[in-house]
Amino acid sequence: MKPDSTNAIGVFDSGVGGLTVVKALMERLPFENIVYFGDTARVPYGVKSVETITHFAREITDFLLHQQVKLLIVACNTMAAVARQAIAGMSPVPVLDVIDAGASSAVSVTKVKYVGVIGTPATINSNAYARAIHQYDPDIRIFSRACALFVPLVEEGWLDHPVTELTAREYLRPVLCRNIDTLVLGCTHYPLLKPLLQDVAGEGITLVDSAEAMAEQTAQVLQETGLWNPRRQPPEYRYYVTDVPLRFQGIGERFLGRALCDVRVVKL
Ligand code: DGL
Repeated sequence: MKPDSTNAIGVFDSGVGGLTVVKALMERLPFENIVYFGDTARVPYGVKSVETITHFAREITDFLLHQQVKLLIVACNTMAAVARQAIAGMSPVPVLDVIDAGASSAVSVTKVKYVGVIGTPATINSNAYARAIHQYDPDIRIFSRACALFVPLVEEGWLDHPVTELTAREYLRPVLCRNIDTLVLGCTHYPLLKPLLQDVAGEGITLVDSAEAMAEQTAQVLQETGLWNPRRQPPEYRYYVTDVPLRFQGIGERFLGRALCDVRVVKL
């Protein structure tokens, strides 16, 4: 049965980072209601095992489906990389994820067909981006690098700190020396580092922000499935977290560039 098109879009992440996707969705789809879930008590996922990440992803999927969402968006690259099948297997509504969105965008951007991908250790070890990119174009060469320190640096708010710049230079060196023309930011937190990463990468390299690509793909799927919200009213935004929301609210408002009003704590 087709879901009610006035229902909310469910977006989930391991914590606060998925709000970069929410921000892009709000801008691209200003009439859509959004329910966000951030597992702030258990973040970070990117350094955890496949079994643990999959178990958490199933719990969150179950929770959001109970909120009657019409579409699920896996904003967390790590969950998308290792648990996409498990999530899709549980869901009667369409499931979109940042990896596919980022991959298709990278394929359309690269001219030399040398693409860099950066993400958490779990995302990079899964090789999910390489597989997704090769589904579109098997001729593309992919050079990937796990950047475990970026998530804590962003959470600390060190977006243009010299330590972050030094870390970025160190992480990106082996990827940049491959003459790539495209770099996929394969983690929810990395769009916050965009200016710094662009500086380090240089002007000749296009950064692919999966958040923007995700919003574009969502608009397309809503159109194709007829799930656009026909109501032209100010939308409702609701946020669920698993730990006290103070930190989520502080960092989240910086991510989102607006106040986070309706934040609720849940126990899974
Ligand atoms: N949301 C994760 C991702 O996009 C980053 C934070 C984490 O490690 O949980 O990969």
